[in-house]
Amino acid sequence: MKKFSIVIAGGGSTFTPGIVLMLLDNLDKFPIRKIKFYDNDKERQDTIAKACEIILREKASDIEFLASTDPEEAFTDVDFVMAHIRVGKYKMRELDEKIPLKHGVVGQETCGPGGISYGMRSIGGILEILEYMERYSPNAWMLNYSNPAAIVAEATRRLKPNSKILNICDMPIGIEGHMAEIAGLESRKDMIVKYFGLNHFGWWSSITDKEGNDLMPRIREHVLKHGYEVNVDEHQHTDESWNDTFRKAKDILELDKDYLPNTYLKYYLFPDYVVEHSDKEYTRANEVMDGREKFVFGECRKVIERGSTEGCELHIDEHASYIVDLARAISYNTQERMLLIVENNGAIENFDKTGMVEIPCLVGNNGPEPVRIGTIPQFQKGLMEQQVSVEKLVVEAWIEKSYQKLWQAITLSKTVPSAKVARDILDDLIEVNREYWPELK
Ligand code: NAD
Ligand code: G6P
Ligand code: MN
Repeated sequence: MKKFSIVIAGGGSTFTPGIVLMLLDNLDKFPIRKIKFYDNDKERQDTIAKACEIILREKASDIEFLASTDPEEAFTDVDFVMAHIRVGKYKMRELDEKIPLKHGVVGQETCGPGGISYGMRSIGGILEILEYMERYSPNAWMLNYSNPAAIVAEATRRLKPNSKILNICDMPIGIEGHMAEIAGLESRKDMIVKYFGLNHFGWWSSITDKEGNDLMPRIREHVLKHGYEVNVDEHQHTDESWNDTFRKAKDILELDKDYLPNTYLKYYLFPDYVVEHSDKEYTRANEVMDGREKFVFGECRKVIERGSTEGCELHIDEHASYIVDLARAISYNTQERMLLIVENNGAIENFDKTGMVEIPCLVGNNGPEPVRIGTIPQFQKGLMEQQVSVEKLVVEAWIEKSYQKLWQAITLSKTVPSAKVARDILDDLIEVNREYWPELK
């Protein structure tokens, strides 16, 4: 059986050890001969890499391992690039969140002005990695979950239309885990779903079990009372701020009880609530730096000091096994049905053909084949048209280096009350992003 070679781009990510452990746990389904890490921050990556090298030596000593900041070394001889980079790191995420909040606007990693700011940084970083892959391993596929996935996907559609890149998000997967629990099923894979929208901006229109029984009524009843809050055993999405997000789905569902919402819609539909409940001095970036980042790097340092994983509390990121499902679908033509971010191309009949939408696709060795959705209702369509225009304008602004278009993008975001506020936020964002954004004219 063929064994695969992969490179994890963003080797220094807080998610890397959990993903490596997940890959090792799935070797029977997806055999690996080589794992490489690539990052542009050597010091950050080294801590994670030295610990992962020890983990690999203990658990799978036949897998070759290498961590590098040299693109040629990292991207040569790979079958898959698993990409989770964060251009500007948490220092910039913190500013993306705090600057809009200072102006009374939602401060969020991927939604509103914060997401736009992050998008302007990510586009270049992702294009660069894609170019390395194409130069050094032209047959490889890039599985991208770097954010903001909606903007990154639109940028690669525009600038690299023939590239082998698949954009995927774990939020629907996480929510479906909660839904399965509500429906009394063992796994989200026991459900067949219909879903439509944009990334971090969508709805489930149908959920059945494998026999075709409708699960929507039971899930709806729960969500109208508790949102998606349930007791599930998971490591991601467990902080109190995430519980609040899961609960808030209750109010989103009230707006249209026929469609179960993605949790991220709260930032667009209840921005006033979000701003009121935000601490301008301590945002999610601070929570993550004080929580996940300290924990993961702390544990890695312990592994390095001891030279062994004994007593190590790093855990398998089981929920990330969707990455293996995706790699398997491509490698073994499994035709698994997965939600991916793809060009609409008529799948949603009454929506922009060129919009990057998140919909179910059958995935095989030629890539994704989108499932036909048909027409969507006016309310969701209206919201999506506004948001997809924001995403398209950001990409146009990046390509054309246009201040005007970026100002339009921020103005058009449903999270922003006026063109004046949009301009004030934009001017502040430009100040702090000089190192990362193209210089705007
Ligand atoms: P992190 O800051 O811990 O890790 C990101 C790494 O990327 C850092 O080590 C950084 O040095 C590196 N990096 C930055 N720019 C780079 C470049 N141009 N080339 C190579 N490496 C670069 O961040 P994290 O919290 O672990 O998240 C990583 C990414 O995964 C983020 O984009 C996050 O939004 C994303 N994410 C996506 C999903 C999803 O559903 N799609 C889920 C979780 C996380
Ligand atoms: C979800 C989203 C990701 C996002 C993450 C943020 O998983 O799907 O796109 O990056 O949440 O989590 P964090 O713990 O970093 O706030
Ligand atoms: Mn996501």
